Amino acid sequence: MDGRQQQPQPGEGPSAQRAIASDFADRLNRVAPSRLGDAVGQLVAALHDIAAKIALTPEEMRAVVAFLTEAGHHADSRRQEWVLLADALGLSSLVEDMATPRPEGATPNTVAGPFYRADAPDLPAGANLSRDGRGVPLAVRGRVLGLNGAPVGGALVEVWQANGEGRYENQEPDRQPEHNLRGRLRSDAQGRFNFRSVMPKGYALPSDGPVGRLIARLGLCLERPAHIHFRVSAEGHERLTTHIFDRADPAIGRDAIFGVKPELLADFRPAEGAADGRLLDLKLVLCPLRQG
Ligand SMILES: [Fe+2]
Repeated sequence: MDGRQQQPQPGEGPSAQRAIASDFADRLNRVAPSRLGDAVGQLVAALHDIAAKIALTPEEMRAVVAFLTEAGHHADSRRQEWVLLADALGLSSLVEDMATPRPEGATPNTVAGPFYRADAPDLPAGANLSRDGRGVPLAVRGRVLGLNGAPVGGALVEVWQANGEGRYENQEPDRQPEHNLRGRLRSDAQGRFNFRSVMPKGYALPSDGPVGRLIARLGLCLERPAHIHFRVSAEGHERLTTHIFDRADPAIGRDAIFGVKPELLADFRPAEGAADGRLLDLKLVLCPLRQG
């Protein structure tokens, strides 16, 4: 028998690869069980399975390592490419969904995103969030309700949004006033809150790093449809963090971070008597705190 024929050929070793994954699992089974061990075991099994299915080559493996290395070089206190990767793969939204299940009728939760600031100013009812007066005027009239339909008074309603160019104030501190288009309001006894602002514009996730280039190379897009972020906190209720999206935005069906849900679509309709103004009516429905 020709001994060379018994050697596995390149790309012909899926059974050997599966044996390594099995060996890894056996090693984990011999140490103290842990959630970390379980997660790593699942990850190794999935990675080995993918490598076997696509017959991953050494060159492709090196490309993966180069991608991960570059992502690390784009992660610091101002830029977090790893979070961007989790966002672009839909993992951030999945984890948020699993952590904050909502019953039918309650406003769904979403990720907060990177532009939230806890130190936004407290504003009176009817205040204008726009500090530079730039953009298409928008009036927002909202109600905070419980799952039973009862108004929730005294709720803290935090709002933040991009401007008419799709930029948040903390992205361009030299071009926008401090705390532009963000603020904290309180709902009244009927659960009502209202404020003035400007129409937000959608924006794209950063494309100048390895994650953006990966998404572009896949032929996918980095767009996020126009939206306003809300966070509502009220005693006896679960905190709600969500977005309200402009239903008319062309990118509404391809949000880069998979945050759009049917319940979060709203009409930013022309305001009566205003030539270029818009009006948004919305309800934010909280659910009671879960026991235990
Ligand atoms: Fe946003």
